[in-house]
Amino acid sequence: MDLHNIREDYRFDSLLEANLHKNPFDQFKNWFETYRHLGVKDANAMSIATVGEDGIPQNRIVLLKEVRQDGLVFYTNYASDKGQQLMQNPNISALFFWREQERQVRITGTVSKMDDSENENYFKTRPYLSQIGAAASDQSSPIKDRTALEAKFQAFQQQFPEGSAVPKPESWGGFQITPKSFEFWQGRSGRLHDRIIYTAQEGAWVTKRLQP
Ligand SMILES: Cc1cc2nc3c(=O)[nH]c(=O)nc-3n(C[C@H](O)[C@H](O)[C@H](O)COP(=O)(O)O)c2cc1C
Repeated sequence: MDLHNIREDYRFDSLLEANLHKNPFDQFKNWFETYRHLGVKDANAMSIATVGEDGIPQNRIVLLKEVRQDGLVFYTNYASDKGQQLMQNPNISALFFWREQERQVRITGTVSKMDDSENENYFKTRPYLSQIGAAASDQSSPIKDRTALEAKFQAFQQQFPEGSAVPKPESWGGFQITPKSFEFWQGRSGRLHDRIIYTAQEGAWVTKRLQP
């Protein structure tokens, strides 16, 4: 398969110092809101990279659920591969690719577990089938086949019929990413893309332009 001829030129927008927000969370929210309004499916999907004890990076998509004043929140199973890796090594990198606007946002930081009360509160707001799905899945553990998985799901549905309170699995919950850097990439023509990186330095955010 030869993909050498797949090429795009980027002309959607620019990212200039004069228009930057001082705080990268504001810059992020501004870009995210404009992307969200396009109505793209899974606009809040981000790829997160983790590295556990084996030193091998692993990537997967999760959904960003909240942007706080000092962090970004996603939910998962703490006992999953990513959960275990993050407990061993809290360093994380998150990546958003907003193709329609020719933008990429790259974040590095560390994670902390959300409070259990916050996990409980959010779990209660999830749709019934998502609650059952979370309860029935030992995320990242092998299972014999699809039938066995569906049987587990149905057993939980019988035990907790719709309308009853589905208990949050012990190991289900959120991580907050506390960013150390945000890089905003805006595609430009002729590969002269704009790249601005914010890094946290002694309590303040410092910006630099990077070569594309
Ligand atoms: C669009 C999309 C959204 C997803 N959202 C989540 C999520 O919010 N939380 C989660 O744990 N997994 C989510 N997943 C599944 C993960 O990508 C991954 O398969 C799973 O978490 C197991 O990863 P792990 O074995 O590395 O822990 C999503 C996958 C896709 C494609």
